[in-house]
Amino acid sequence: MTDEHVINKGLEGVYFTESAICKVDGQAGRLYYRGYSIEELSKNSNFSEVTFLLLHGKLPNNREMLEFNQSMSKERDLPEGMISYIKENAQKMHPMDVLRTCVSMLPAYDAEAYDSSPEANFRKSVRIISKSASIVAAIGRARANKSYVAPDPSLGHAENFLYMLNGEKPRPEMVKILDIMLILHAEHSSNASTFGVIVAGSTLADLYAAITAGAAVLKGPLHGGADEAALSMMYNIGKPENTEKYIEDALAGRQKIMGFGHRVYKTYDPRARIIKGYLESLQTGNSEELKTLSQIAMRAEKLMIEKLGASKGIWPNIDFFSGPVYVSIGIPKELFTPLFAVARSSGWCAHMLEYWQNNRLLRPLEKYTGQLDLPYVEIGKR
Ligand code: CMC
Repeated sequence: MTDEHVINKGLEGVYFTESAICKVDGQAGRLYYRGYSIEELSKNSNFSEVTFLLLHGKLPNNREMLEFNQSMSKERDLPEGMISYIKENAQKMHPMDVLRTCVSMLPAYDAEAYDSSPEANFRKSVRIISKSASIVAAIGRARANKSYVAPDPSLGHAENFLYMLNGEKPRPEMVKILDIMLILHAEHSSNASTFGVIVAGSTLADLYAAITAGAAVLKGPLHGGADEAALSMMYNIGKPENTEKYIEDALAGRQKIMGFGHRVYKTYDPRARIIKGYLESLQTGNSEELKTLSQIAMRAEKLMIEKLGASKGIWPNIDFFSGPVYVSIGIPKELFTPLFAVARSSGWCAHMLEYWQNNRLLRPLEKYTGQLDLPYVEIGKR
């Protein structure tokens, strides 16, 4: 090998594996899970079915769906030790930190934690996907000084999450919106957190370790944390008429506008388009907060597209319109990224299970730019 190494900063344009799970067409703005378009799935499916699709590679029949829902529902309870941990810590750190820690605690409660057979890993995937929703709901309760609500096994995944968070059965339209948000966030090819999962798993660390790594990677505002940051920006803007000046000033100061831009999409993110559609249909509600947020979001989007859309390929991504939609169903902003993790845990597990079928340690190179053969000088003589 010569010294002329090609460095792909940010690993841009680098392929590291093959996968049959997800296709992101960044030029056409299309997204497919296992061959089904995101428009088709978000219109017709629900999160449990999409999770089955991602894990098994096909849509379930009636019997398979029933059994899968039962297995998800059986895994929703949380151990006492974890509930206590959440109560103790939920107000001391960001919910993503609590979630990450809880995922890494799960082996303590799982007899097959270190069984690396595909069957055990599949069962662990269901455990992680199911329990992560309960963990986030429990964190939300603890942050609001409310007591833990046990899961209701008769409810579906999204409905049960809202029930555990709010202590009452949600309205069907809230469940529908959350289901769609979970579907849209469930999977996105080799994004940073999924790559983080696979890096950890490629060492043959166990599934809990790999998913913990994914949760750590997702937290940052350049990735999953952008949804919370985008809503914070909308609150900072405050009034719709402040939007343009706020954005112009931020861009003049070379700040990034959260919820815009993407490494792969150089056009409108199809997930953002779907969420925007829901937001537009929500605007007629009587919440002043929601109306204001929606107007700010629409004005910011228009300006950003005019300024950076065609010229720089910077368009709204999934995280831009998510905030107001979550607000419409009463989700606090600090739970946005944890909910992203709840959804993405299905994509993370699907990818890890797939990668382990043909595992190879991930170990890239870096070009060394330091010195060599320096003489060691005793500490007192430096
Ligand atoms: N606002 C303003 N300028 C931007 C933005 C933005 N949101 N995104 C990129 N740019 C500019 C950036 O300043 C740079 O300009 P220049 O060439 O003049 O230096 C150029 O576009 C390329 O940006 P980059 O950061 O090198 O691009 P990237 O492909 O490495 O990063 C990104 C992609 C998503 C990290 C970036 O667009 C960004 O930081 N966006 C804001 C954070 C965000 O919304 N993240 C969520 C991504 S989608 C969901 C997910 O994956 O979690």
